[in-house]
Amino acid sequence: MTSLAHLTVLGIETSCDETAAAVVRGIPPGPGEILSNVVLSQIEAHGPFGGVVPEIAARAHVERLDALITRALKEAGVSLHDVDAVAVTAGPGLIGGLIVGLTTAKALALAAGRKLIAVNHLEAHALTVRLTQGVSFPFLLLLISGGHCQLIGAAGVGQYHLYGTTIDDAIGEAFDKTAKLLGLPYPGGPEVEGLALRGDAKRCNLPRPMRGREGADFSFSGLKTSVRQLVRTTNIEAADIAAGFQAAVVEILVDRSRAAMAMFRADFPDVRMPDFAIAGGVASNAAIRASLSELAKTNAFSVKMPPPGLCTDNAAMVAWAGIERGQLGHFDSAGVSPKARWPLASADPRRNAGSAFAFDAPLDGGVAARQD
Ligand code: KG4
Ligand code: ZN
Repeated sequence: MTSLAHLTVLGIETSCDETAAAVVRGIPPGPGEILSNVVLSQIEAHGPFGGVVPEIAARAHVERLDALITRALKEAGVSLHDVDAVAVTAGPGLIGGLIVGLTTAKALALAAGRKLIAVNHLEAHALTVRLTQGVSFPFLLLLISGGHCQLIGAAGVGQYHLYGTTIDDAIGEAFDKTAKLLGLPYPGGPEVEGLALRGDAKRCNLPRPMRGREGADFSFSGLKTSVRQLVRTTNIEAADIAAGFQAAVVEILVDRSRAAMAMFRADFPDVRMPDFAIAGGVASNAAIRASLSELAKTNAFSVKMPPPGLCTDNAAMVAWAGIERGQLGHFDSAGVSPKARWPLASADPRRNAGSAFAFDAPLDGGVAARQD
């Protein structure tokens, strides 16, 4: 290691349908310096199937990862011997892709005599606001992605308290399924957002599951069922349904986040103007960003959002999570295994104890959503 204060880390991400490599340099709490950040989407390969096909994803990672890493190092102007460590997503995610990334990272670390850091993908999303804005602990985090919807009190690296989670579908999944019902291509989130701009949310009446309930849990399956009902039984324009769906999601997120803000204040009464961080692919949605910013303002929280390109899957966040762990001396041996499921936070036993069981949702076969 050159120094434990400032680390330069190569990050590798292959847990879903993005093959990514990046080099980041920095010191916690950030912000860090992104020396390179290369992301190769597999959208075209999965598009015809309407979702991520694990077998196709794993094969695409094998074919592209080596060249992508070479490119990331070149763009950063460093060689493998200049980095302090290789950080790689070891879970949660699709096991085939995780094996590709982890095996590659082990080989590189071993060959170049560098440290290896196995990163939790959710922790990488969670810590992105420190990479981009240098946010200090503790902060309230809303993690909204293809496989998750969680409100978390982030007290430190590896210290995450679950305030709320989805009891059924993940939010990104709800966007993707709604897109499919409306005949839009995969991935559905940006498509629904684009179509919603031309629609009128007031033309359809959709439910707001869990709104006003005690705790900060979410539910999206009823909303998806209602969208299906509207598509099948009415002539409401797709744009109006997209707008109605997005408006419902926004309202649910605002309501649940408001509840979590109260929980956070009770846990950290001394933090005067707490940070409210939003992360994960769905956090790139402009309507969601605007509404949550407004909510933060009225509740005396300071909203912190990574730019949209660092909300969706990337390897810069993996490299940064590696820097955070490396700084604490948390390195891994070559014997570390990939984990298809790897929960970030455990439920706070003082409240919503049932939430943790959402982690045990069975894995779908075929087209996959990320599970923790
Ligand atoms: O974080 P991410 O890139 O991958 C996972 O870790 O799951 O999130 C992907 C999810 C997909 O469900 C995608 O449809 C959704 O994020 N997404 C969006 C938007 N961009 C991506 N959802 C709503 N609006 C968007 N603009
Ligand atoms: Zn992700």
